[in-house]
Amino acid sequence: MHYPPAVASRVEAARISRWIDRFAAMTEPGHGVTRLAYSPLEREAHALFAAEMTALGLTVKTDAAGNTIAELAPTGDEGDAAEHAPAIGTGSHLDSVPEGGRFDGIAGVVAGMEVARIAVEEDVQRRRPWRFVAFASEEGARFGQACNGSRMIAGLTRSADLHALHDANGVTMAQAMMQVGLAPESVDSARWRADDWFAFVEMHIEQGGVLESKGTPVGIVDTISGSTRLQATLLGQASHTGGTPMRLRKDALVAASECVLACQAIATDPEHHGTRVTVGRLEVFPGSITTIPGKVVFTVDVRDVDSDRQRRTSEALASAFERISAARGTTLAVEVIGDTSPVVLPSWIVDEIAAGAADVGLAYRVLPSGASHDSQQINRVVPAGMIFVPSRDGLSHVPEEFTRAEELADGATVLLRTMVRLDAAA
Ligand code: GLV
Ligand code: MN
Ligand code: MN
Repeated sequence: MHYPPAVASRVEAARISRWIDRFAAMTEPGHGVTRLAYSPLEREAHALFAAEMTALGLTVKTDAAGNTIAELAPTGDEGDAAEHAPAIGTGSHLDSVPEGGRFDGIAGVVAGMEVARIAVEEDVQRRRPWRFVAFASEEGARFGQACNGSRMIAGLTRSADLHALHDANGVTMAQAMMQVGLAPESVDSARWRADDWFAFVEMHIEQGGVLESKGTPVGIVDTISGSTRLQATLLGQASHTGGTPMRLRKDALVAASECVLACQAIATDPEHHGTRVTVGRLEVFPGSITTIPGKVVFTVDVRDVDSDRQRRTSEALASAFERISAARGTTLAVEVIGDTSPVVLPSWIVDEIAAGAADVGLAYRVLPSGASHDSQQINRVVPAGMIFVPSRDGLSHVPEEFTRAEELADGATVLLRTMVRLDAAA
C-alpha cells in the first residue's frame, strides 16, 4: 500500500510542544505537575482537550466516568456502512501523580490531537470512525487503583466499587467524582462494546531507559506489567520517648522499617527475580519527636510481567510482614488496594506498528512496559497496542521527566501511520 509521504511530514514538533506547555500549566502550585485523578484540574485539562477537538470539527462527549472521547467520522460517500464500521482509536490520560512530570499520559493525548488535526486538514481518507480518547483517573497515586476510567470502560470497575476506593483523606472515588460533576452511579454506561471497535493504539513515554540507551526512537510494547498494591497498617504502643525503656517498646516504625527492608530482600531474592517492589508512602503516627510511633501505615507496589510471580511475591511479603510484626509485638493488617494482571498485547498490532515505523524510516525495538497503562484495560474489549518514545535518563513520575519535542513528533508520526494502516486493515 502506498502512503503519501506528505502526511507524515505534517506532524509539527513545535505545535506538540505548545500543547505540552498548555497542559503543564494546569497544575497545583509546587514542584512539577500535580493534577490528580478526579480533581478540578484534571477536569480542566479534559475541557481543553474537548474544546480543541470540537474546534477541529470532531464530535466530543464525556462519559459518566469522566473519559473524553472525540470522534472523527469516516470520509467518502460510503454512508451508513462506514459510519457504523468498527472504529479505530488512540489516546492516553491527562491526570498526573503528585509532583509528576509534563509528559506521562499527556504525550499520548497530544499526539492524538496532532493526528486528528492532520487527518482533518489533510483530509486523510478513512474507512472507519477514528476516535481520540483522554482517559480519566489513570494514575493509582490518589486512590490506590490505577487506570480507573479505562477499567470502567472495560467493565472491570463497576459503580458499586466506587464507594470502597478512597484517597489518603478518606474521600471515596464516588465522592470525588461527584465533586467534579461526574456520575458515579452511571459509570456502567461508559462500557465500550467490542463490536463497535477494531483496534486501539496508545502513544506514551517509555518511563524507563531502554530506548535512550540503545539510541532507538520508537518502542513497541508487547507486554504490560501487572501490579498488586498493598496497604499495611502496623499498630504498636505510642508512649513517652524518655520514659519508656527500649526493651518495653512496641515501636510501629521500627517494625515498619524491617518490613521495608524485607521488601528489598524479597524482590532481590533469585526466586522473585524480575519483580519490582516499592514502598512509596509511609505515614507515622502521631508523628511527634517525643512520642514513640504507635501506628504506621505504608503502601507496597509490586510490579511484574509474570502474573504468578506477582501474586507469589505479594503473598511472601504479607507473610514476612506478619513474622516481623509478631516479633516486634505490634499488630498488623494488610489490605489489597489494587490488583491488575500483566497483559500480553496482540502480536498483529505489534506488527502493524512495526510496519508503520518502517514506512517512515524509524528504527524500533519491541519491549515490555514496566508501568501500567490504560491500554492494558482497553485490550479486554479492543485489541490494543502501544508506541513508546524515549524518556531522558529513564526518569518518570518526577518533575525531571523529559522527552524532546522531535522525539514526540516521531512517535506521533508512527501513530498516524499506524492509524492509517489499521484503518485499511480488514
Ligand atoms: C502508571 O503511571 C503507573 O503507575 O504505572
Ligand atoms: Mn501514564
Ligand atoms: Mn504515570
